[in-house]
Amino acid sequence: MIRAGVVGASGLAGGELIRLITQHPELELTFLGGSSHVGRRPAELHANLRVDLGLTVQPVTEAVADQVDVLFLATPAPVSAQLAEQLADKVPAIVDLSGAFRIRTPELHDRWYPKVQRRTELADRFVYGVPELIRDQLVGAPLISLPGCYATALTLGLAPLTLGLGLDLKTVVVDGKSGSSGGGLQLRTADLHPFRSGAIAPYAPTGHRHAAEVGDFLVRAKSGSIASLSMSAYGVSHVRGLLTSSYVFTDAEVDQRELQRAYMRFYKGSRFVRVRRHNETLIPVPDPQAVLGSNFCDVTVLHDPEGGRIVVLSALDNLVKGAAGQAVQVANIRFGLPEETGLTMQPVMPA
Ligand SMILES: NC(=O)c1ccc[n+]([C@@H]2O[C@H](COP(=O)([O-])OP(=O)(O)OC[C@H]3O[C@@H](n4cnc5c(N)ncnc54)[C@H](OP(=O)(O)O)[C@@H]3O)[C@@H](O)[C@H]2O)c1
Repeated sequence: MIRAGVVGASGLAGGELIRLITQHPELELTFLGGSSHVGRRPAELHANLRVDLGLTVQPVTEAVADQVDVLFLATPAPVSAQLAEQLADKVPAIVDLSGAFRIRTPELHDRWYPKVQRRTELADRFVYGVPELIRDQLVGAPLISLPGCYATALTLGLAPLTLGLGLDLKTVVVDGKSGSSGGGLQLRTADLHPFRSGAIAPYAPTGHRHAAEVGDFLVRAKSGSIASLSMSAYGVSHVRGLLTSSYVFTDAEVDQRELQRAYMRFYKGSRFVRVRRHNETLIPVPDPQAVLGSNFCDVTVLHDPEGGRIVVLSALDNLVKGAAGQAVQVANIRFGLPEETGLTMQPVMPA
């Protein structure tokens, strides 16, 4: 068995990690870390997890290195940065869910994560990217930085155009909508029920750091290019799940059939990306509701000749494919297990 630890065990992503790890046939949960819930059992922190593991939340010290083979950091970025520095050469594998090590370009990192001091040498040792695109780099990797939830949806939506078809994209305009669990358990007025219920709240109408992360990654990954990528993000009423709508403008001549084929080809063999036709089922897809609780990202590509654009829609569960599920997926690859181990659950619907 592979011994796994979760720091941020009381949080939303941490709770999902506990849920997934305790059902995983090859992972054994051996450590739970945190700061303000020390001594608490998972069942006291998460109403859905009545599991008796004999573990309580503990402060994180270097002693954790003797207790785990892989440590998941489901912590705020400044905390992840500090823990990674402390533990990088002591724990065999660290999977960080935060933004601390996602952006490679130093100036971009400083702009979008001003509170996370960049540790260049350490940052350069992290492997970043959605597993579907960087599988080979993950095998045996000691330090892995997971993309953000929006960034995962966006990258999986755009990669077949840039990396697959090698298109040069002039302008990509993204509209993102996410549920309240995307912000974790921090208390913010806008997230209180009287305001969040029924909301379509433009919380980041310009300048979302996940767009910066995606641009940084896809431009480095080469093939086609992206001249401009911008995003507006809305908090909507539901609790989990997100949708990104990318409006892509390019001079390339493409038609619907070619796009559909290119997406199918690109994700052939990728178990967790479902390329879907918009009207293939009774309700239009992709719909975040249709992936909840699962590690799937549903992607739909549409040619819009009247608008002179390509529309790419991606939906995922921010706490699963956008966080804990993807973390388990990369750990599976890191340790040479089949990628889908412990992640074969189908979505629940209606949610
Ligand atoms: N929510 C999502 O959809 C999502 C998706 C992708 C990535 N992420 C990323 O995953 C990370 C966790 O997000 P979340 O939504 O789960 O946040 P959350 O619900 O607010 O949980 C944060 C966790 O971090 C722990 N923590 C805070 N300071 C700590 C410290 N100094 N030492 C140890 N633990 C500490 C907290 O534990 P204590 O209360 O015990 O201090 C808590 O368990 C963030 O970096 C976030 O950006 C989240």
